[in-house]
Amino acid sequence: MLAEIKSIQWRDNAIVLIDQTLLPIIEKNIEVHSLEQLRDSIVRLAVRGAPALGVAGAFGVVLALDQARASGWSDDRLATEIDALRDARPTAVNLAWGVNQVRPLISQGRDAVLKAAQQLAEDDRLANLAMGNNGADWLVKKLGDRPLNLLTHCNTGSLATTGTGTALGVIKELAKRGKIQEVFADETRPLLQGSRLTAWELSKAEIPYRIQPDAAAAMAILGGKVDAALIGADRIAKNGDSANKIGSLGVALACHIAKIPFLVVAPESTVDRSIKDGSQIHIEIRGDEEITHIAGKQMAPDGAKTFNPAFDVTPARFITAVITELRAYEIEAGESL
Ligand code: MRU
Repeated sequence: MLAEIKSIQWRDNAIVLIDQTLLPIIEKNIEVHSLEQLRDSIVRLAVRGAPALGVAGAFGVVLALDQARASGWSDDRLATEIDALRDARPTAVNLAWGVNQVRPLISQGRDAVLKAAQQLAEDDRLANLAMGNNGADWLVKKLGDRPLNLLTHCNTGSLATTGTGTALGVIKELAKRGKIQEVFADETRPLLQGSRLTAWELSKAEIPYRIQPDAAAAMAILGGKVDAALIGADRIAKNGDSANKIGSLGVALACHIAKIPFLVVAPESTVDRSIKDGSQIHIEIRGDEEITHIAGKQMAPDGAKTFNPAFDVTPARFITAVITELRAYEIEAGESL
């Protein structure tokens, strides 16, 4: 039996995270005792992936209450600190969602907030299983009951959730059914969530895979090497436009031209029905050094300017279907969410 990967959990009055910046070379947990430490862990991607950020946001409210009590914060200070946690990264709707789910319970006391946060983590785990089944069933129905070659981008597995994952959860479910030939994992520049994290999870799960530069994805897709591509999402608008890790859009365009399915797999908590399309999604722009340096070593000339968006938005017309824990939304056929 493979050891379960626990990206985020609550233990002994602290949040325990796998430090994802160190993987796959070092497997180390960090204990988070303060909001400053949590915000820092979120910004430097020690904890990352939309659903895991939702759980981090919810547990963070418990930390905030503990810190408020220990340090004598006023209600205003508490509110400001929780707002800063909610806004630590702007694109994944789940972070704000997680905070907002438990915040109204503050008046009922810290234990009520903790219980709700733990429930949110459990609900995410169960949603992963449902998405895994829905996505696997969808692919078998559309592509036939045969081993598949699948492409994925970024990391959408246990590290990004509290369960098996979203897109990677579908892949794991198909592997359980004996229906994976091979996974093509995009390395995911610039922070390598694919080659560091997805590859780590796939090797732990003993699922055959290879990593490829993001720039090889279009060639793999148009060259007939993959049957479909599956990604996760950070925010999905009502019309199906989906924000996900930078490079997802290129994968979608190639799939559209090759006429193979491009699936977005995400929990309902990632669907932001308050926005009608992707133009309203705030895209996080990250620092220059992620591009100008590799592993701390300068690679670009002094003063090189960068364009480093963490995410892109794939328009709904390039998305075959959005798979959630509830169902498959047939976006290409004109459905919205
Ligand atoms: O910057 P990251 O690593 O947090 O970006 C993560 C992604 O883009 C994931 O694909 C998305 O959050 C879905 S995770 C199930």
